[in-house]
This record gives sequence, structure tokens and C-alpha cells, in this order.
Amino acid sequence: MKGIVFTEFLEMIEEKFDYKLVDQLLTESDLPSGGTYTAIGTYDHLEMVTLVSKLSEHTHIPVPELLQSYGRYMFITFTKSYRPFVDRSDSAFSLLNSIQHYIHVEVKKIYPDAELPHFTVEQPTENHLRMYYESERKLSDFAYGLIDGCLTYFGEKATITKTNLTDDGSHVLFDIVKE
Ligand code: HEM
Repeated sequence: MKGIVFTEFLEMIEEKFDYKLVDQLLTESDLPSGGTYTAIGTYDHLEMVTLVSKLSEHTHIPVPELLQSYGRYMFITFTKSYRPFVDRSDSAFSLLNSIQHYIHVEVKKIYPDAELPHFTVEQPTENHLRMYYESERKLSDFAYGLIDGCLTYFGEKATITKTNLTDDGSHVLFDIVKE
């Protein structure tokens, strides 16, 4: 997992809580990397699992809720750091439709070792987008937050329904229905 995912996560904690908590999490987590992340480095995604669980212990906020918040936060970061990818779309559905075949393809060119999920997207009706998420990293709650952040960015309102297709959370269906 790319360092940007970690550096932004720690920045979110500092912003929403304080640096003391960041320091505490890094000290208590006993991470193989030692917790010194650089944006372009690559780290074991299990370090993220450890950090989110520790944050949950400290804040008493459930892990799925923390990952969703982080997804919303990350989408805002993407709109700043990867402006051209976002500007290509004029609506949330257009952007969500472009992740698999455009955005993540470009991401892979920048970071050849990026570990990205696979999305299959269908649009049964004008107001309904269906996204199938597949990833061994099982970060569908993070995906949920990114989808939500994307809708907010474009000023759109929709209901997101998440359905686990496998028990381990590696295959998940999102039904996004615009109001
Ligand atoms: C401009 C928009 C976007 C950019 C630049 C972008 C870029 C990235 C990058 C750099 C990573 C980290 C890869 C790694 O750590 O190795 C990532 C992971 C991920 N992205 Fe995107 N992304 C964008 C939009 C989205 C959206 C809207 C979704 C939501 C459906 C999404 C879903 C994910 C998920 C769930 C992961 C975590 C890895 C996994 O689940 O396997 N991305 N993306």
C-alpha cells in the first residue's frame, strides 16, 4: 500500500483529534516500518489494519466507521493532488464510472507497485449505479467513504447500499441510487 494512504490517514487523525494520539498509535502499534512513512514508499497494508484497530480502541469508534470517514477525507485529498483526474468528470457517476478504466490505470502508471481494487460498474437506470468491488485488501468501507466523498464533491445526494457478497469482505456490491 502506498505511503500516501498512511500519511493522509495520520494527518486526518491529527486534524480530527490531535498529534498526541498519532504519536500514541505509532508507539503502541509495533509496526514493521517503524511508522515512518513517505508518500512514495510502499508498505504492508496490514499496517493500516493495525493502525485503524488501534485508533478504534482509543476512540471507541467502530473500525468500519473510521474507514468510511477516512475515505471521505481521502477523496478531498484526491481532488487537490490529482485535480486533472477529477476534472475530467462533470458528475459523481461519471467519475465513479471512470475509476477502473481511467483513474486507477493512471495511478498505476505513476506508482507501478500500487495495489488497487477491481471495479465492475453497471448503470441499470439513469439514477442507479451498481459497483462491484473486489480486493484482497477488503477495504470496502474505505471505498464507501470515497464514493460518499465523491457525491458530496459534486453536490449530489444519493443512497449508498453496501452488500457483502462473500463473508470475508473481498467481494462487495454497492448500489448507489440518486434522489
Ligand atoms: C481522483 C480519484 C482517485 C485517485 C487519484 C485514486 C488513487 C488511489 C491510490 C493512489 C490508491 C492507493 C494504492 C496503494 O496503496 O497501493 C487507491 C486505492 C484505492 N482506491 Fe482509488 N483513487 C481515486 C478514486 C477512487 C474512488 C472514487 C474510489 C471508490 C470507489 C476508489 C477506491 C479505492 C480503494 C477502495 C482503494 C484501496 C485499495 C483496495 O481496496 O484494494 N478510488 N486509489
